[in-house]
Amino acid sequence: MGQQNIRYNSSLLDTVIDGNELEQYNDAVAASETMLQKKNGPGADFLGWLNLPAEIDQPTISRINETAAAVRNKADILICIGIGGSYLGAKAVIEFLSPSFDALRKPQVVFAGHAINSDYLADLLDLVEDRSVAVNVISKSGTTTEPGIAFRTVREWMEKKYGRKEAASRIIATTDPEKGALRQLAQAEGYTTFPIPADVGGRFSVLTPVGLFPVAVAGIPIEELVAGAVDAMSFCNGTTVETNLSGKYAAIRNILFRRGYTTEMLANFQPHLHFVGEWWKQLAGESEGKNNTGIFPAAVDYTTDLHSLGQWMQEGIRNVFETFMVLESTSRTLSVPEFEDDSDGLNYLAGKSYETINSSAFKGTLLAHIDGGVPCATLSIEDRTPRSLGQLFYFFEKAIALSGYMLRVNPFDQPGVEAYKKNMFALLGKKGFEELGSDLQARTKKLGV
Ligand code: PA5
Repeated sequence: MGQQNIRYNSSLLDTVIDGNELEQYNDAVAASETMLQKKNGPGADFLGWLNLPAEIDQPTISRINETAAAVRNKADILICIGIGGSYLGAKAVIEFLSPSFDALRKPQVVFAGHAINSDYLADLLDLVEDRSVAVNVISKSGTTTEPGIAFRTVREWMEKKYGRKEAASRIIATTDPEKGALRQLAQAEGYTTFPIPADVGGRFSVLTPVGLFPVAVAGIPIEELVAGAVDAMSFCNGTTVETNLSGKYAAIRNILFRRGYTTEMLANFQPHLHFVGEWWKQLAGESEGKNNTGIFPAAVDYTTDLHSLGQWMQEGIRNVFETFMVLESTSRTLSVPEFEDDSDGLNYLAGKSYETINSSAFKGTLLAHIDGGVPCATLSIEDRTPRSLGQLFYFFEKAIALSGYMLRVNPFDQPGVEAYKKNMFALLGKKGFEELGSDLQARTKKLGV
């Protein structure tokens, strides 16, 4: 049994969900867990993430670390190009574990291809102008528009700056092991490549080279991240809410959803957890939001958002339950200084650490939201370490897979994202979309957009 650095506490829900009701969900936990283990549920071709932490071999880890060390030696900035699952995992790890400000990070890992915007890319090229640059282009399909066009711009810039051959030696492509446009280009240009296992979908890929390589370049020990996920494999396993922490969380989400609490707010009290919330939103939203069902995943950063969405959380429409991610210890501790004049009246806080104050903010918020009719639970994370984060990632992946099965959807596909793509291609005049293109042009004209 591995160590456990994360804890899900649902005792605050005792007045909303009684023990019997939760126990009755054991059948659902068992059925969903069995479908995952036997690989006979919807999307069974995409279960590579389930045992991945225990199956990653040492040669893979070593190759990622060696390539990352070479990049760290050669480059002072890595541009990571990707979107969705090919972006959010690495971003979440780096933001959770690195110093707060870019200027304190060496080497810097910056991201592109997760939006469509000239100003962002132009600023990025200004930023790297006098620096030694490496690029990691990440796309499983190899055909996604946002990273595809960003990579064109960055590749052109790299080839102008370094010449085609040297540029190629600084570009690492993470993509499908065999097929796709990016795989072909990488082969033709001689880029270093990492494979994304065919049976692991984007939002479940943080522990493949998709997440691990950029994270290793940022100087984070990827072995620890993986070890954390291996720990979680033991406490997020089993057929009851008692033995399976992910199963318990999944069951509670579903019970609340069926009671009309259709939105889950994942709240944190640490700026470093912001992108964990973003990663979770993708994991939950893309996995569950289909067939006209699905818990809407929202995330807030407190106390910042207590001064904006806090009002809504306290008194808005009561269709929301809240899961508080609580970081139990920060890496460093500062206390509030004392001033003799006490002109701001804050001397009563002098000598108290920011964490003591933050903890009272958390407890105060939790109790206020319970009093305001929001069902609340907590998810504690021991510290800001890769081990704890690895546990958290696996806990959520497993929970969302189980929860998706409880909602009777395929948690591993995302047919809905094709709708916007089809329309965008048609509006941009892509070959094969001509008829739809004229239709949509007429509609947009009529609507005045
Ligand atoms: O979870 C998913 O599968 C998606 O969000 C993808 O990660 C995202 O669309 C990017 O796809 P790709 O890696 O093929 O460029």
